[in-house]
Amino acid sequence: MANELHNYPRPVHFNNREDKEGPRILRRRVDKENQTFSFFKVKPLNPIIGAEIEGVDLSKPLSTPLREELNEALLEWKVIFFRNQAITSEQQIAFAKNFGELEVHPFYNAPTGRAKEVIQFNRNKVQKGFENIWHSDVSFREQPAKAAILRLMKVPPVGGDTLWADMGAAYDNLPDTIKERIDTLQALHDFTPSFSHLMSPEELLKWQKEFSAVTHPIVRTHPETGRKLLFVNPSFTTRIIGLDEKESEELLQFLFRQTHIPEYQVRFHWEPNSIAFWDNRATQHYAVSDYYPYERLAERVTIAGDRPY
Ligand code: SIN
Repeated sequence: MANELHNYPRPVHFNNREDKEGPRILRRRVDKENQTFSFFKVKPLNPIIGAEIEGVDLSKPLSTPLREELNEALLEWKVIFFRNQAITSEQQIAFAKNFGELEVHPFYNAPTGRAKEVIQFNRNKVQKGFENIWHSDVSFREQPAKAAILRLMKVPPVGGDTLWADMGAAYDNLPDTIKERIDTLQALHDFTPSFSHLMSPEELLKWQKEFSAVTHPIVRTHPETGRKLLFVNPSFTTRIIGLDEKESEELLQFLFRQTHIPEYQVRFHWEPNSIAFWDNRATQHYAVSDYYPYERLAERVTIAGDRPY
C-alpha cells in the first residue's frame, strides 16, 4: 500500500491554497502604537485586539482627558473591556454619550422601563441566542454604527463568550491580487437575511421599503486612524456590485472567512457586570450560542457612525 501511495503525483497547487502557515502582519494601529496611558492600566488579551482596562469607574462622569485616553485605547485595541462595573442602564447611556450620539435600532424595541436607545438580548430556555454570526452592527444602514457598549447582567455558568475579529488585520493579510481586486469595489448590505425571521411578510415588505439595501466600499478607511479595513460581513452583505452572482458569492465567502483566522481574534469570557466597548468600524463580533438552556441577559447601547468611505 505504502508503495502504491508513492505513485500519486505530488500536487503543485499548495502555493495557491488559502490556508498557509507562517507569520502574519499583526499591528494594532498604522499611525501610532504602544501608547502609554496615565489614567488606567491596560491588560492586553491578545497582541493586536482586545484589552482589559483597569482603574476606571464607569458609574462616574468622565473628565475630558480620561475620555480622550479611553478613545485612544479603543482605537488601538479595537475592543476594550471593564470588569465589576455594577452600573445602571442610565449610567451605561451616560458613559456611551461621551463618545457620540446614540442611535435607536429599527428592529429591536427597548425593554419596558428602558430608554429607547437600549437593546436587550434576553436569551434563555425560550429564546435561544442567535447573534452567532460574524457581523458589524447595523451595516445595512447608510451610516453604520461607530461603536457599541454591551453590559452583561446575567451570565451562564459556562459558555456565552463573545469573539471579536480585527478587520484591519484581515485586510492587511489578504493576497495582493485580492486587494487589487476589491480596493475599488462596493457591496450591498441589507437587513433582510438577518432580521426577516422577526417579521410577518407584510412587515418585511414595509421595512424593505423604508430600509432599502445600501452600498458600502468593501474596503473602508477608518475615519480616525486612516487604516484600511475589510468591511463585508455574512450577516448583512448580500452581493458585490458589478460581479455576476457566482463570482460575487465566491469572493464574498472568501472575504467572510478572514474573520475565522485566530490571530485576528479575541475571545472574551464574561462575568456579571463586565462591559465591552467595541469600535464597530474596525471589528466584527460573534456571540457564541452554546449555553442553552441557561440564561444570558445583556443590554447594548450603540453610538451612531458616519458614511463609510
Ligand atoms: C451583539 O451582537 O451585539 C450581541 C453580542 C453579545 O451578546 O455578546
